[in-house]
This record gives sequence, C-alpha cells and structure tokens, in this order.
Amino acid sequence: MARFGRMDETAFLATITPSSMRQAMQEAARRDPAVAVLFKLLGPNGSVKWAHTLGVLTVPELGELQPPIPPLSLRRGAPAVPEKYLWRGLTDATMFARLYEDHRSRAVKCPKVLDFACGSGRIARFLLRWRWEVHGCDTDADRVHWCQKNLPEFTAWTNKPAPSLDCPDHSFDYIYCYSVFTHTPEDVTIRWLEELHRVLVPGGLLALTTNGPSWLDSILKQPPLQEEFGLPKQELTELVRQIEEGDCVFRPYPGSPEYGLTFIHPDRVAAEWRSAQLELVGQEHGLAIHESPQDVSIFVAR
Ligand SMILES: C[S@@+](CC[C@H](N)C(=O)[O-])C[C@H]1O[C@@H](n2cnc3c(N)ncnc32)[C@H](O)[C@@H]1O
Repeated sequence: MARFGRMDETAFLATITPSSMRQAMQEAARRDPAVAVLFKLLGPNGSVKWAHTLGVLTVPELGELQPPIPPLSLRRGAPAVPEKYLWRGLTDATMFARLYEDHRSRAVKCPKVLDFACGSGRIARFLLRWRWEVHGCDTDADRVHWCQKNLPEFTAWTNKPAPSLDCPDHSFDYIYCYSVFTHTPEDVTIRWLEELHRVLVPGGLLALTTNGPSWLDSILKQPPLQEEFGLPKQELTELVRQIEEGDCVFRPYPGSPEYGLTFIHPDRVAAEWRSAQLELVGQEHGLAIHESPQDVSIFVAR
C-alpha cells in the first residue's frame, strides 16, 4: 500500500472516488478489453487516477460523474489542455492533502479549508470529495462564477486584489495557495500573508507555492516554455543568479504593475516571509511531476 508521510494515498483515492465511479470503471473494463489491460498495467491506484483524469475524457459514463471542465478561457494560467488540467489538478490536490496531514498538530474532524486564488476550482474539484469543507476565493469573477455554477458544494467568492478578505478572524484550519504568490510583488505578498494569518485559527496551516531554482532550471531545459513565458535562456540564467544572491525578482506583465512573474529562492521565503505570527514548519523544493515545478513552503499560525 502506498504511504507517504501520514497520509495513505490509497485511502485518499478511495475517499474521493464514489462507488458509482468504481462501478463505471468496472463496466468500462468489461466492455473494452483495452481498458481492462490498462487497469492491469496501472494497478489499483493508477487505474483510479486514470479514471479521474483521462477516463472522464474518454468514457462517457465516467465523464457524467465529474463536474464539467471549464472553458479554455477559464483555464488560462493553469494547464490549458483538459488532460493536463485534470491530471495536475488531481496531483496538486493530493499534494495539498498530504501536506496538511504531514504538518497538522491536531486532529480536526472536518477541517475548514480555503483555496486562496482558487481559479476555476482545478484543485478544489477533487478536494470537495475529501474529508474537508472547502471554500475558495479569487479576484477573477468569471472563474468564481463558473465555480459557483458548476461545483455546487464549493463555497466560492470574489475577493479584491488587495487585502482584506471578507471573513471573520480564525475562520479556517488550512489555507493552500497554488501559484498566486508566483505572480505578486513581494510587498503585496507579505500583506496577504498577514491577512491569511488573521483568518487562520491559531495552530492552522498555510501552504503556498513559489517559483525558484527548480522552476527556472526546468524552463532552461525546455525551449518551447521559454517562448511561452517570454524568458530567453540568457534572462533565465540571470534570474538564477539574482535569486541565488538572495533577491526576490518581480517582472510585471505589460500594463499590470502589480501582477506578473515572481522569482524567489526558498531560502529567502524562509528568511523574509515567516514572522512571529507565521512560523515556517516545512519546505519542499520543486514539488511537482509536471513541467514547471514549484517550491512549497508550509507555515503554522501562532
Ligand atoms: C496561475 S492561476 C492559479 C489558479 C489556481 N490556484 C490553480 O492552481 O488552478 C493564479 C490565480 O490567482 C488569482 N489571483 C491573482 N491575484 C489574486 C489575489 N490578490 N487574490 C486572489 N486571487 C488572485 C488569479 O485570478 C488566478 O486565478
């Protein structure tokens, strides 16, 4: 049985997979020998992951059991192709569930969780079936409306680009943030960290991702992504040098002075982003199986 940290991946997959989906998997394997062979090759966990991702795109009965996939315009900033959107969503959801289990100091029956900068619910769509009450917010009203319409158990709302959040103090046990502070200037990020601390219960956890050496190294090896991000090799090499020297580099997108690409070494996150209120309890570098691996830092609210 696959175990990682405190979380049992098999139990996680079992919980997020309703019996109707298991039944649809069995029927698909009975009907199509190629699916039966695939399940043998992938093994039990791999088959379930396939069903949640590629399966929902190829087997209509599986597709009917999942929320729809947002239109392309609402997938920007996340993997655009549906296969990768779902696969990375499941992978990142598993990662945030594991990080919570690895770092929590107490047991909470049904943790109240905030997906800060939830986008179109790429990660939350999987975690809604986990043992959590999942809320989400994002500045992009179109993505939030899509979530409200298509993910009925997800409480999603639109927030303003600058703090604060319209929530009482100590509202959440866990907040995860995937690839939002990879886009904001450091002073804005620090203000958000103070606000996220306010809405966390004492002892609550915050996990956030950043772009650092792993991301830059990976883009250096992939010329098509250099073009996509507008970062030629020479600039990437210079960015590596700058962040190795301790800078946090923010490159605004044209016409948006407070939104762009942010690069930071995890050591600087450890030194500058923690505070008396947010204690750093863990970091994992280049944590992702996909083409642009981000670093993750985990804080506990004091
Ligand atoms: C790269 S996307 C990631 C979306 C989502 N976390 C995911 O992984 O699919 C960045 C998201 O951050 C949102 N965002 C940017 N600034 C924000 C802010 N100050 N508060 C909340 N969301 C913000 C954007 O609208 C966008 O949906």
